[in-house]
Order: sequence, then C-alpha cells, then structure tokens
Amino acid sequence: MKKELRRAVIAGNWKMNNTPSQTKALIEQMKPLVADADCDVVLCVPFIDIPAAVEAAKGSNIKIGAENIHFKASGAYTGEISADMLKEAGVEYVVIGHSERRQYFAETDQTVNLRTLAAVNAGFKAIVCVGETLEQRELGYTETLLKYQTKMALTNVTAEQLKNIIIAYEPVWAIGTGVTATAEQADEGNGFCRAAIAEAYGADVAETVTIQYGGSMNAKNADELVSKVNVDGGLIGGASLKAEDFSIIVKAASK
Ligand code: PGA
Repeated sequence: MKKELRRAVIAGNWKMNNTPSQTKALIEQMKPLVADADCDVVLCVPFIDIPAAVEAAKGSNIKIGAENIHFKASGAYTGEISADMLKEAGVEYVVIGHSERRQYFAETDQTVNLRTLAAVNAGFKAIVCVGETLEQRELGYTETLLKYQTKMALTNVTAEQLKNIIIAYEPVWAIGTGVTATAEQADEGNGFCRAAIAEAYGADVAETVTIQYGGSMNAKNADELVSKVNVDGGLIGGASLKAEDFSIIVKAASK
C-alpha cells in the first residue's frame, strides 16, 4: 500500500443547502481556515450557488464542484445541467452517483457511468460515489456490490482518464445518520474499491487512485478515518456546512 502516491482530497458536498448569499458568507469564513491545507480542498455546491462560490473562492486554495452533470451535450432534458454550462461557470469537480441521486432520482449504474464519461471527457475531476445499503451489508454483499458499482461506473474509462477520477466510498447507512463506519470498515470498503480498480487496470494504477470515505465524517472522527491506509480524504456532507468543523477535517487530512 502506497498512501504517499495519492493526494488526499477533502470535498464538501453541500447537497440542497445554502443560497448564493449564504454561499459567499460561508466560503469567506472558510478561506483563512483552510489556507494552509496540505490536501486538495473542494466544495461541491448547488448549481445556483456556483457563480457565488467561484467568485468567493477566487485566489484561494478552495476549488468548486457541482453535484451532478448530464451526459448529453444539450437538448430536451428539463432540470439537468451540461458539461459546457459547468465549464463556463468555472467548475472543476463534479459529484456523480451520490446515493441520494440513486435513491430519490432513479440514478442507475448505467447513468452513473454515462455521467462519469461525460465529466472526464469534458476535463472535470469526477468524484464517483459507491456504497452499500444496510441490507446489502447484512446479507454479506458489501464486497461484491462495491466492486460491481466501481467497475460499472468506470466502464470505458481509459487509464489516462482514470487520473481525473476520485472514488468516494459512502455506505448508505452512514450518510446523514450520525452512524459512521468504523475506521476499519471504511478502510475495508475503500480497499474493495481499490481491488476492483486493480482488477480492471492493474495494481500499480489502483495504487494511484484517490479513494475517499464519506458518511458522517466529522471534526471528531476525521483523524482516525483518514489515517487509514486506504482512506485518501473524505466526502463531507453535514460537517461541510460549518466552517470550523470543515477546517478541522481538512487539517486532519493534511497530516
Ligand atoms: P454526511 O454526508 O457527511 O452528512 O453523512 C456525506 C455525503 O452524503 O456525501
């Protein structure tokens, strides 16, 4: 295991929170707190907040991401957003396949794959989410499921494009519930994702892919989680809405 080959990435996923003015205020608060980070710092925000976020983050080490991207260039897809739109708005990262998208918006492994391809073809860094439900875990399918979701998401992604992909292992039962996976469970889940990448691209390539953990990561548990060999940072929901908490997580990943 070569953790030093990988750059840790702490990404906030704001979900459906904050208006543009709240976005500006929160990023202004965060900027000085994360300025000396020794990891990549990303905030993925609602579409309407992107211009305010890009403007507020200008000149800082905070990169801005979107929470979704459509796989078609343009057309009759009401409510969706294209790569060109996000590019012009100044977005660098895109979250794809979050479990809330899968659960509430009929996202499938196929559409996750199409969105992933659209993102990397357009030059974005894609944060691709995978994760098992509690039922799947209790049935003993965690490894099978994580490997399947990881491989499906990466179908037709070249080794070159893989350099712009981050996998986020997010057990569905740990998201927004306050129930965090233990550091061992996080490390194991991330390891299953890495093993799937090794099967598809070779072990050397797999060692270079940043794999985050997500699911109730917070200021208290971040240290232990990111110290694990397979955990290269985190995708943070609730705790990314508070400047202080988010900065403590960034500091944990900077060690
Ligand atoms: P949470 O969300 O940190 O609020 O559990 C994580 C995520 O959904 O990315």
